[in-house]
Amino acid sequence: MSSNPDWKPAIAADQLSDDRFHAAQAGDHKLIVLRADGEIVAYRDACPHEGYALSVSGERQDFVIVCNKHLWEFDAATGEHISRIPRPQCNLKRYPVREVDGMVEVDVSAQPAA
Ligand code: FES
Repeated sequence: MSSNPDWKPAIAADQLSDDRFHAAQAGDHKLIVLRADGEIVAYRDACPHEGYALSVSGERQDFVIVCNKHLWEFDAATGEHISRIPRPQCNLKRYPVREVDGMVEVDVSAQPAA
């Protein structure tokens, strides 16, 4: 995480449901935002495989985010690529989040804009 956080509003917290993810934008950063295990998490809206937008090509199936381009799967709560072989470089890019007055804010300094 950056020592100089750059918090940007992304989406109203009350728009988030427990069974899907939501496309959002914070500054120049395109995101998917969701609730998982009771926490709000935000990931870059790009599949680590070939970069397709998960908001277009993906879906949430309970605790898993699936990219329907080539069926890569990710843990919804952690962004970890689910595979028999550990591939940490293939995890979803996760942003720090906080909730301020009902708004989900994302620290965009933590990840470069794609
Ligand atoms: S682009 Fe997502 S699995 Fe290939």
